[in-house]
Amino acid sequence: MSIEIPEGLTELLQSFTVEVLRKQPRDLLEFALQYFTNLKESQSAGAAFGNEQNPAARHGKAVNFIEEAMQIDSENGEDEDDDDEEFVAPVINRFNRRASVCAEAFNPDDDEEDKEPRITYPKTDEQRQRLQEACRDILLFKNLDPEQMSQVLDAMFEKPVEIGEHVIEQDDDGDNFYVIERGMFDIYVKTDGSERLVGSYNSRGSFGELALMYNTPRAATIIATSAGALWCLDRLTFRRIIVKNNAKKRRMYEAFIETLPLLKSLEPSERMKVVDVLSSKVYSDGEQIIAQGDMADCFYIVESGQVRITMRRSRSKKDLENGEVEIAMCSRGQYFGELALVTNKPRAASAYAVGSVKCLVMDVQAFERLLGPCMNIMKRNIANYEEQLAALFGSQSDVEDREA
Ligand code: CMP
Ligand code: CMP
Repeated sequence: MSIEIPEGLTELLQSFTVEVLRKQPRDLLEFALQYFTNLKESQSAGAAFGNEQNPAARHGKAVNFIEEAMQIDSENGEDEDDDDEEFVAPVINRFNRRASVCAEAFNPDDDEEDKEPRITYPKTDEQRQRLQEACRDILLFKNLDPEQMSQVLDAMFEKPVEIGEHVIEQDDDGDNFYVIERGMFDIYVKTDGSERLVGSYNSRGSFGELALMYNTPRAATIIATSAGALWCLDRLTFRRIIVKNNAKKRRMYEAFIETLPLLKSLEPSERMKVVDVLSSKVYSDGEQIIAQGDMADCFYIVESGQVRITMRRSRSKKDLENGEVEIAMCSRGQYFGELALVTNKPRAASAYAVGSVKCLVMDVQAFERLLGPCMNIMKRNIANYEEQLAALFGSQSDVEDREA
């Protein structure tokens, strides 16, 4: 006699088992009742709102175990151990990335984590100074409070790198997060068996955060193309401090990010990944945010205040005092600084704070990795720039003069 296993049963039970292992409920039966009631309710709500992200749930199937494990982990910041938490239906992720099956239990909101012994690598004054300098512009560190930052600096250790060294191998488990002190590194991503160079780091920046944040295998291979030096932060300290901080960030920016027209084409879980890589920067009145002609490594979204975009003057009469012409103003929810990243050219214009301004900033690697689906909206906007300039500067030849 053959017994047919109903479609979705295996995945449903696997998802449930993952939840049980994560939450370790005291009353298993009560937990099961709550879990399946929530699942049913979230399915009905999803169907009512035409939830396109989760067709499996819509059709009464539990999602793939691996995808869900990854999603659970990527939602790590969201009160995961709170028994009264709002139930989040598992979401299938479009990124073709495998999940680690050995995710350690971790609750970023649990203060017990703070009681774990701290890791400290003693450093000379000279080492600490070099370390601080290397970490100065690391976006993931920007939102840390001074105590958290000092714990991070204490825990970091130095690693010299030789030319040709594979610092990270795609698909390995994640051990450390790396901040570059000096040296050049290429980024390779393997898809469908073929490996592609997708970018590089030149003596600044950081890498290796993804596997630690989302408990996934390494998403890229990083190879040193020169001798160099890195500062490493171990996985546990990274998760205890940075992932915990990201949970706070998600709560702060979730609603704002949902309102941004630019990110409309992203799925909710992808928008949360955008929040994870954003950091907030404050500028005072008149401060320069971008300088025309500079090389670019960041993208900006205005959180509050106004940003004036200006270009060096040509024959226009509308010159500002500093010899630049205002070409646009950006306010809350608008973005700038995408053009140089998309075209791989220097900054086409300058940007200045008008009054006190807060921007959300994303580095070029995250921009390329996460905002691909938003490229159409950006390109449509970029197409308008030329018209905007022609209207301001009169004719195409003026624009060409200026560019020359
Ligand atoms: P992680 O997956 O931990 O290890 C490889 C790192 O490469 C990854 O974290 C990112 O920090 C970095 N990286 C840079 N560009 C990319 C990219 N396009 N895709 C994946 N990882 C990238
Ligand atoms: P980027 O060139 O990286 O830096 C300057 C930014 O100004 C540019 O990206 C755009 O985001 C923004 N900008 C706004 N209007 C224009 C315009 N007409 N031409 C070029 N850049 C513009």
